[in-house]
Amino acid sequence: MKKILLIFGTRPEAIKMAPVVLRLKAAGDAFQTRVAVTAQHRQMLDQVLDIFNIQPDHDLDIMSPNQDLFDIASRGLTGLKEVLRKEEPDLVLVHGDTTTTFIAALAAFFLKIPVGHVEAGLRTKDKYQPFPEEMNRHLAGVLTDYHFAPTPWARDNLVNEGVAPARVWVTGNTVIDALKIVADRVKREKGRWEDYFRREYGLDLNNQRLILVTGHRRENFGPGFENICWALRDVVDHFPGVLVVYPVHLNPNVQRPVYEILSTHRGGGQAKAHLLETGSDSRLFLLPPLEYVPFVYLLSQSYLVLTDSGGIQEEAPALGKPVLVMREVTERPEGLWARTVKLVGTDRQRIFAEIKELLDNPASYRAMAQAQNPYGDGQAAARIVQVLAQLFAGHAPDAAVIDPWEPKFEAVISE
Ligand code: UD1
Ligand code: UDP
Repeated sequence: MKKILLIFGTRPEAIKMAPVVLRLKAAGDAFQTRVAVTAQHRQMLDQVLDIFNIQPDHDLDIMSPNQDLFDIASRGLTGLKEVLRKEEPDLVLVHGDTTTTFIAALAAFFLKIPVGHVEAGLRTKDKYQPFPEEMNRHLAGVLTDYHFAPTPWARDNLVNEGVAPARVWVTGNTVIDALKIVADRVKREKGRWEDYFRREYGLDLNNQRLILVTGHRRENFGPGFENICWALRDVVDHFPGVLVVYPVHLNPNVQRPVYEILSTHRGGGQAKAHLLETGSDSRLFLLPPLEYVPFVYLLSQSYLVLTDSGGIQEEAPALGKPVLVMREVTERPEGLWARTVKLVGTDRQRIFAEIKELLDNPASYRAMAQAQNPYGDGQAAARIVQVLAQLFAGHAPDAAVIDPWEPKFEAVISE
């Protein structure tokens, strides 16, 4: 029986690796599946492990407050040396573009253990945007033996860089698998989550247009985040029927400006939200990071999404929600091509103007609010496991053998 060790460390890696862990485990005796987390994130990682009921076999618990890239890389690499020596896996699977991803691939390489990279081939071709993710995925890719590209465009990036086409499989993105796993639940439990947000945060979504906001990119720290916050104040000042809900990432470089600029008081009564007072109204809600299921519920109820996140650029189009991306470039152009995603940068006036357009102009809104799903069909993890099974059986499957994924445009949750 072949042993596969999945290594990840942050919230988005956990969400996107969970479907692969579940599929590998469901394959029974075919694989011995082991999970190691660096815990580069702590609380935000644990939220995801709980939802998908994953108990890591190794937990390096490396997170420290306001850690820098040296902290993550050095602690992670040292910790993984012991894990890999103990486990001696036949293959290490890493995901995406975090510093955990890069150092896990590097650690495996040091011990000559083959590497599979899930969500391979995304590129902006700009070394510092996003930082450090563009280099993390590139460097992980160089160390990778088996590349699981989410889309045909990602595959082409790898092949153009000289990766042998026979080592790349187009699988779709596992984020759509994860989204599908929770989507049915969200649909069934709509009333429960409506009550939850009213009870926990004093949020009443009825008859309001919800703008859901997230942000955490390192290149937006400082003036970028300050601009974003002022733009959000402008929006609640100008649009009475609009509710802004912002689950704030735990990074202190995000928390500081967001709470300084946007929180005028803590929510009244039992509500756990921080609020911005706008006249007699409180329509800007700062929440802690949400568990995945309630977050997907809010996404499904939103009017539009304002974010710099990678994963949310993939999820929101599948739910038919327009996404304004607070970045200059994206490694996920498929959403731009599908016209559900727009790059708006971090300029205060530009963000306000783009939100105003979507609030005021129904034609502009309709043009972006088409349910599109250029990122997957929910079967990505199954394809990855199929490829691994065939690789271990001694024959690398031809890309065509695994029913390669091609973009299909459909909603994940229909109302
Ligand atoms: C990391 C990844 C980024 C990914 C993002 C997803 C790197 C360098 N960055 O960025 O690619 O898009 O995760 O969210 O790999 N913190 C907590 N609790 C948590 C998580 C974070 O308190 O559960 C705080 C800590 O003070 C920590 C800080 O946030 O030191 C920064 O965490 P870090 O993982 O270094 O950076 P992110 O901005 O989260
Ligand atoms: N997410 C979540 N709770 C939140 C905010 C985001 O569960 O409060 C999920 C979101 O649905 C997506 C993932 O976290 O799947 C994205 O994480 P993040 O934006 O931190 O990282 P990125 O995708 O940019 O690497």
